[in-house]
Amino acid sequence: MCGIIGYIGKDNSVERLVEGLRALEYRGYDSAGVAFFGESGELIRVKAAGRLANMEEKLKSVSGTSSSHCGIGHTRWATHGAPSDANSHPHGTAALQLVHNGIIENYAGIREELTALGYVFESDTDTEAAAKLLDWYRRTDDSLTAIARLTKRLCGSYAFGIVFAGEPDRIYAVRKDSPLIIGVGDGENFIASDITAILSRTRRYCQLDEGEIAVVKSDGITILKDGVRVEKEIKTALWDTEAAERGGFPHFMLKEIHEEPDAIKKTLGPRISGGLPDFSGEKLDAKALTEASRLHIVACGTAMHAGLIARELFNRLARIPVEVWTASEFRYCDPLVGKGDIVTIISQSGETADSLAALRLAKSKGAKTLAVVNVVGSSIAREADSVLYTLAGPEIAVASTKAYTVQTSLLALLAVDCGLRRGILSEADARALTNELSCRAPEAVGEVISRAEELKLLAGRIKDSEDLFFIGRGIDCALASEGSLKLKEISYIHSEAYAAGELKHGTISLIVPGTPVIALCTVPELVGKMVSNIREVKARGAEVIAIASDIIAEADATLTLPQIDPRLAFLPAAAALQLLAYHTSVSRGCDVDKPRNLAKSVTVE
Ligand code: G6P
Repeated sequence: MCGIIGYIGKDNSVERLVEGLRALEYRGYDSAGVAFFGESGELIRVKAAGRLANMEEKLKSVSGTSSSHCGIGHTRWATHGAPSDANSHPHGTAALQLVHNGIIENYAGIREELTALGYVFESDTDTEAAAKLLDWYRRTDDSLTAIARLTKRLCGSYAFGIVFAGEPDRIYAVRKDSPLIIGVGDGENFIASDITAILSRTRRYCQLDEGEIAVVKSDGITILKDGVRVEKEIKTALWDTEAAERGGFPHFMLKEIHEEPDAIKKTLGPRISGGLPDFSGEKLDAKALTEASRLHIVACGTAMHAGLIARELFNRLARIPVEVWTASEFRYCDPLVGKGDIVTIISQSGETADSLAALRLAKSKGAKTLAVVNVVGSSIAREADSVLYTLAGPEIAVASTKAYTVQTSLLALLAVDCGLRRGILSEADARALTNELSCRAPEAVGEVISRAEELKLLAGRIKDSEDLFFIGRGIDCALASEGSLKLKEISYIHSEAYAAGELKHGTISLIVPGTPVIALCTVPELVGKMVSNIREVKARGAEVIAIASDIIAEADATLTLPQIDPRLAFLPAAAALQLLAYHTSVSRGCDVDKPRNLAKSVTVE
């Protein structure tokens, strides 16, 4: 989704902006642009649809870039208006340029009003209405007052970076519901939509809160709330540049899958003591969790699929029923949650608009909220009553892999904790599971990762298919959803995840000779049932690849999983599905890390 960068300092600001935009490419985008002050303080704007390289090409013929020391940049993910030069950001007038993440909901009315005042619009975007309204206010007010008036008038979500003609020594920033941070450098400062954009220059940053306006100069940052200066805590990001680089891997996705064993250990290690789960170091209401009659999990995409795994685990290990909601549905279905309920939000970025809104809704209804989040200090982490951080490090590939692995591992540990407290698991069983999770699971995931050649061969069997199916029972059904999503996201092969026993109630009509079916068989007591389902599809000509602990004779091929407690076999199986999707995508020549139309962090609803 859209990325924002702003730079002010001694360096060539255009170089710094392009560097920041490159680091933000991972969020998913379809056009890019910058605005900066030229040699004599004039505002210069360059923007182009398509890859960043298109804008860089245009920049070559623009003079004044090397003497520019202040500017703003943007990567756009189209919402209002197709990707085009005109719709790219920045937007503005001779008096100002502005970049925007979010959606201005009342832009149409504003546009009409401004058109009546004589403004001419060049784009189809909601952003241009905000930029021109700011121009209108700026005609009579100083910059800060004009920005404050703008924020009062806008409905929707925004993070703005703004530069005004005649003020080449400062960048303004303001936000509501869309993230924005201020990077603190040495003789240089930044604004950015996320820390990865500035990691190569600084790890120090402060969070801009809603209702605040930042005035960022090269030698200082002023943050104002209702015109009064506020002191902000300067934080240091734990991530370093290396963590956000490919480190010799051909793709971020592959690197991130390879990081899974370590990420599991890092995430679980601090939450285990004496061989048992120990969440006492967290601000977590363990009693409420243990006594809960049911839990709610709300999330989007892969994080929601981690919730599906958690549902199985809490059911099995702790006998707590869990309802899993897609955040965009939870928001508008008048959910039956309230006082006494615990709503868990799972999110890698901690900024997904629907998940954040669901969190706020749950809080407003009196529910307790728990966030399982990867990005420290993100909106969801800050607003939830308690937060469990996953320690996966930065995830750059759009398709989420290691975040899912650590979310499911952490929730498994929490389920073991609850199961023990509720007397569902014996101490010996809880101990054994904790050990399997923290020691054996990382090894097992590592073993799957080391079998690249085998996975490539399996990918070769499905790479030319138009459609395929993932089937499973129990926890494998939850896993099938993620396996299918991963494949669709990055290889563009259509696939469906189905409860194996349900296939015959309709969907089996789609099985024709040669249709690949990936059959997940990690639950020992359900293998017999799975074999019957495999026979059913085989009888219709399907080509079956089983992912199982032992060879399934009825399948055309089996990827045998490393030995592990079957209740945790979903972890190596997930790695296998991720790698299957990865190798399929590579063999089809797809853009693995930046699949078409997708964004890493979806900050609009
Ligand atoms: C986007 C990403 C997915 C991700 C989902 C939720 O759609 O492409 O990979 O699972 O957002 O993101 P979150 O940051 O909340 O986990």
